Amino acid sequence: MNPPDARRYAPATQRNREPILEILQQVLPPQGTVLEISSGTGEHAVFFAPRLTPRIWLPSEPEPRSRASVVAWLEHSPADNLHLPLDIDVRGTVWAVEENIPLESIPPINAIVNINMIHIAPWSACLGLMAGANRLLPSGGIMYLYGPYKRGGEHTAPSNEAFDDSLRAQNPEWGVRNLEDVVAAANDQNLTLLNTYQMPANNLSLVFQRA
Ligand SMILES: C[S@@+](CC[C@H](N)C(=O)[O-])C[C@H]1O[C@@H](n2cnc3c(N)ncnc32)[C@H](O)[C@@H]1O
Repeated sequence: MNPPDARRYAPATQRNREPILEILQQVLPPQGTVLEISSGTGEHAVFFAPRLTPRIWLPSEPEPRSRASVVAWLEHSPADNLHLPLDIDVRGTVWAVEENIPLESIPPINAIVNINMIHIAPWSACLGLMAGANRLLPSGGIMYLYGPYKRGGEHTAPSNEAFDDSLRAQNPEWGVRNLEDVVAAANDQNLTLLNTYQMPANNLSLVFQRA
Protein backbone atom coordinates (compact mmCIF):
# COMPACT_ATOMS: atom_id res chain seq x y z
CA MET A 1 0.00 0.00 0.00
CA ASN A 2 1.28 3.51 -0.77
CA PRO A 3 2.01 5.76 2.21
CA PRO A 4 -0.55 8.54 2.73
CA ASP A 5 0.14 11.57 0.55
CA ALA A 6 1.42 14.36 2.80
CA ARG A 7 1.05 17.04 0.15
CA ARG A 8 -0.88 20.06 1.38
CA TYR A 9 -2.54 22.70 -0.77
CA ALA A 10 -2.67 26.48 -0.39
CA PRO A 11 -4.93 27.87 -3.13
CA ALA A 12 -3.24 31.30 -3.06
CA THR A 13 -0.07 29.73 -4.45
CA GLN A 14 -1.88 28.87 -7.68
CA ARG A 15 -2.99 32.47 -8.07
CA ASN A 16 0.25 34.26 -7.18
CA ARG A 17 2.94 31.92 -8.54
CA GLU A 18 2.99 33.25 -12.13
CA PRO A 19 3.23 36.97 -11.23
CA ILE A 20 5.86 36.18 -8.59
CA LEU A 21 7.88 34.08 -11.05
CA GLU A 22 7.88 36.98 -13.51
CA ILE A 23 9.54 39.22 -10.91
CA LEU A 24 11.96 36.53 -9.69
CA GLN A 25 13.19 35.99 -13.24
CA GLN A 26 14.04 39.70 -13.41
CA VAL A 27 15.61 40.24 -10.00
CA LEU A 28 17.37 37.04 -8.89
CA PRO A 29 21.09 36.68 -9.56
CA PRO A 30 21.53 34.53 -12.70
CA GLN A 31 23.09 31.64 -10.78
CA GLY A 32 23.78 30.54 -7.22
CA THR A 33 21.46 29.18 -4.54
CA VAL A 34 18.12 30.69 -3.61
CA LEU A 35 17.09 30.05 0.00
CA GLU A 36 13.32 30.02 0.36
CA ILE A 37 12.21 30.93 3.87
CA SER A 38 8.80 29.61 5.00
CA SER A 39 8.11 27.33 2.04
CA GLY A 40 4.69 26.38 3.45
CA THR A 41 3.16 23.54 1.44
CA GLY A 42 6.08 23.36 -1.03
CA GLU A 43 3.91 24.18 -4.05
CA HIS A 44 5.95 27.30 -4.82
CA ALA A 45 9.23 25.38 -4.59
CA VAL A 46 8.23 22.74 -7.16
CA PHE A 47 6.84 25.40 -9.46
CA PHE A 48 9.74 27.86 -9.26
CA ALA A 49 12.76 25.52 -9.19
CA PRO A 50 12.54 24.09 -12.72
CA ARG A 51 11.71 27.53 -14.12
CA LEU A 52 14.69 29.21 -12.51
CA THR A 53 17.53 26.92 -13.57
CA PRO A 54 20.51 26.95 -13.36
CA ARG A 55 19.90 28.38 -9.90
CA ILE A 56 19.58 25.92 -7.03
CA TRP A 57 16.36 26.17 -4.98
CA LEU A 58 16.71 25.41 -1.27
CA PRO A 59 13.38 25.35 0.59
CA SER A 60 12.96 25.68 4.36
CA GLU A 61 10.04 25.47 6.73
CA PRO A 62 9.87 25.27 10.56
CA GLU A 63 6.47 23.61 10.92
CA PRO A 64 6.89 19.78 10.77
CA ARG A 65 3.65 18.97 8.92
CA SER A 66 4.34 21.65 6.33
CA ARG A 67 7.91 20.44 5.97
CA ALA A 68 6.55 16.93 5.32
CA SER A 69 4.33 18.48 2.65
CA VAL A 70 7.36 20.10 1.01
CA VAL A 71 9.08 16.69 0.94
CA ALA A 72 5.95 15.06 -0.52
CA TRP A 73 5.73 17.71 -3.25
CA LEU A 74 9.42 17.21 -4.05
CA GLU A 75 8.87 13.46 -4.38
CA HIS A 76 5.86 14.06 -6.61
CA SER A 77 7.52 16.72 -8.80
CA PRO A 78 11.28 16.29 -8.49
CA ALA A 79 13.73 18.69 -10.12
CA ASP A 80 17.51 18.37 -10.34
CA ASN A 81 18.01 21.82 -8.85
CA LEU A 82 15.56 21.37 -5.95
CA HIS A 83 16.81 20.38 -2.49
CA LEU A 84 15.11 18.81 0.51
CA PRO A 85 13.76 21.42 2.94
CA LEU A 86 15.73 22.62 5.94
CA ASP A 87 14.19 23.35 9.33
CA ILE A 88 14.62 27.12 9.71
CA ASP A 89 12.79 29.33 12.17
CA VAL A 90 13.94 32.82 11.24
CA ARG A 91 13.99 33.86 14.89
CA GLY A 92 16.95 31.56 15.51
CA THR A 93 20.29 33.31 15.83
CA VAL A 94 21.94 30.56 13.77
CA TRP A 95 19.98 29.10 10.84
CA ALA A 96 20.39 25.50 9.67
CA VAL A 97 22.19 26.72 6.54
CA GLU A 98 24.87 28.28 8.69
CA GLU A 99 25.77 24.99 10.38
CA ASN A 100 24.82 22.20 7.93
CA ILE A 101 27.81 20.89 6.07
CA PRO A 102 25.98 18.83 3.36
CA LEU A 103 25.33 22.21 1.76
CA GLU A 104 28.99 22.34 0.76
CA SER A 105 27.91 20.61 -2.45
CA ILE A 106 25.77 23.52 -3.66
CA PRO A 107 26.76 27.02 -4.78
CA PRO A 108 26.73 29.77 -2.14
CA ILE A 109 23.38 31.33 -1.22
CA ASN A 110 23.08 34.70 -2.92
CA ALA A 111 19.32 35.23 -2.69
CA ILE A 112 16.53 34.77 -0.13
CA VAL A 113 12.85 34.53 -1.09
CA ASN A 114 10.12 34.91 1.51
CA ILE A 115 6.46 34.85 0.49
CA ASN A 116 3.52 35.70 2.74
CA MET A 117 5.20 35.22 6.10
CA ILE A 118 5.88 38.45 7.94
CA HIS A 119 2.19 39.30 8.49
CA ILE A 120 1.38 35.72 9.62
CA ALA A 121 4.08 35.69 12.28
CA PRO A 122 5.08 37.98 15.16
CA TRP A 123 7.12 41.09 14.34
CA SER A 124 10.13 39.27 15.82
CA ALA A 125 10.01 36.99 12.75
CA CYS A 126 10.48 39.99 10.45
CA LEU A 127 13.42 41.14 12.58
CA GLY A 128 14.86 37.61 12.55
CA LEU A 129 14.50 37.41 8.78
CA MET A 130 16.41 40.66 8.31
CA ALA A 131 19.16 39.63 10.73
CA GLY A 132 19.56 36.26 8.98
CA ALA A 133 19.67 37.91 5.56
CA ASN A 134 22.42 40.21 6.83
CA ARG A 135 24.43 37.25 8.16
CA LEU A 136 23.96 35.03 5.11
CA LEU A 137 23.86 37.16 2.00
CA PRO A 138 27.04 38.32 0.31
CA SER A 139 27.42 41.93 -0.72
CA GLY A 140 25.06 42.46 -3.67
CA GLY A 141 22.86 39.50 -2.60
CA ILE A 142 19.11 39.83 -3.09
CA MET A 143 16.20 39.41 -0.70
CA TYR A 144 12.70 39.17 -2.21
CA LEU A 145 9.55 39.63 -0.08
CA TYR A 146 5.95 39.23 -1.17
CA GLY A 147 2.79 40.12 0.70
CA PRO A 148 0.31 42.86 1.62
CA TYR A 149 1.60 46.08 3.21
CA LYS A 150 0.25 49.26 4.73
CA ARG A 151 1.84 52.48 3.50
CA GLY A 152 2.32 55.39 5.87
CA GLY A 153 0.32 53.44 8.45
CA GLU A 154 -2.72 53.23 6.15
CA HIS A 155 -4.20 50.25 4.40
CA THR A 156 -4.08 50.43 0.63
CA ALA A 157 -7.33 48.53 0.04
CA PRO A 158 -10.44 47.52 2.04
CA SER A 159 -9.64 43.86 1.35
CA ASN A 160 -6.24 44.27 3.06
CA GLU A 161 -7.88 45.96 6.04
CA ALA A 162 -10.37 43.09 6.41
CA PHE A 163 -7.52 40.60 6.08
CA ASP A 164 -5.56 42.47 8.76
CA ASP A 165 -8.56 42.32 11.11
CA SER A 166 -8.91 38.58 10.56
CA LEU A 167 -5.18 38.03 11.20
CA ARG A 168 -5.24 40.01 14.45
CA ALA A 169 -8.35 38.11 15.58
CA GLN A 170 -6.41 34.86 15.15
CA ASN A 171 -3.28 36.17 16.86
CA PRO A 172 -2.78 39.71 18.20
CA GLU A 173 0.92 39.50 17.28
CA TRP A 174 0.09 38.99 13.59
CA GLY A 175 -1.03 41.67 11.16
CA VAL A 176 -0.35 43.43 7.88
CA ARG A 177 2.95 45.28 8.30
CA ASN A 178 3.72 48.88 7.52
CA LEU A 179 6.04 49.11 4.51
CA GLU A 180 8.15 51.85 6.12
CA ASP A 181 8.70 49.74 9.27
CA VAL A 182 9.81 46.77 7.18
CA VAL A 183 12.20 48.95 5.17
CA ALA A 184 13.61 50.47 8.38
CA ALA A 185 14.16 46.98 9.87
CA ALA A 186 15.91 45.97 6.64
CA ASN A 187 18.09 49.10 6.62
CA ASP A 188 19.21 48.28 10.18
CA GLN A 189 20.60 45.02 8.75
CA ASN A 190 22.45 46.43 5.76
CA LEU A 191 19.62 45.76 3.30
CA THR A 192 18.56 48.52 0.92
CA LEU A 193 15.21 48.58 -0.86
CA LEU A 194 15.94 48.47 -4.60
CA ASN A 195 12.44 48.23 -6.00
CA THR A 196 8.77 47.69 -5.21
CA TYR A 197 6.34 46.10 -7.64
CA GLN A 198 2.57 46.33 -7.42
CA MET A 199 1.17 42.80 -7.58
CA PRO A 200 -2.34 41.38 -8.07
CA ALA A 201 -4.80 41.43 -5.16
CA ASN A 202 -3.16 44.48 -3.52
CA ASN A 203 0.09 42.74 -2.71
CA LEU A 204 3.61 44.07 -3.20
CA SER A 205 6.89 42.55 -4.21
CA LEU A 206 9.84 44.12 -2.39
CA VAL A 207 13.38 43.64 -3.62
CA PHE A 208 16.24 44.39 -1.22
CA GLN A 209 19.97 44.26 -1.81
CA ARG A 210 22.65 43.49 0.79
CA ALA A 211 25.25 46.24 1.01
C1 LIG B 1 0.80 31.82 4.99
S1 LIG B 1 2.09 30.67 5.09
C2 LIG B 1 2.95 31.01 3.59
C3 LIG B 1 3.68 29.82 3.09
C4 LIG B 1 4.24 29.92 1.66
N1 LIG B 1 5.36 30.85 1.60
C5 LIG B 1 3.16 30.32 0.71
O1 LIG B 1 3.21 31.41 0.13
O2 LIG B 1 2.24 29.52 0.52
C6 LIG B 1 3.15 31.35 6.37
C7 LIG B 1 4.36 30.48 6.59
O3 LIG B 1 5.25 31.15 7.48
C8 LIG B 1 5.86 30.17 8.29
N2 LIG B 1 6.43 30.80 9.47
C9 LIG B 1 5.76 31.38 10.51
N3 LIG B 1 6.62 31.81 11.44
C10 LIG B 1 7.86 31.53 10.98
C11 LIG B 1 9.18 31.71 11.49
N4 LIG B 1 9.36 32.28 12.68
N5 LIG B 1 10.24 31.30 10.77
C12 LIG B 1 10.05 30.72 9.55
N6 LIG B 1 8.82 30.50 9.01
C13 LIG B 1 7.75 30.90 9.72
C14 LIG B 1 4.73 29.19 8.58
O4 LIG B 1 5.21 27.93 9.06
C15 LIG B 1 4.06 29.11 7.22
O5 LIG B 1 4.64 28.12 6.42
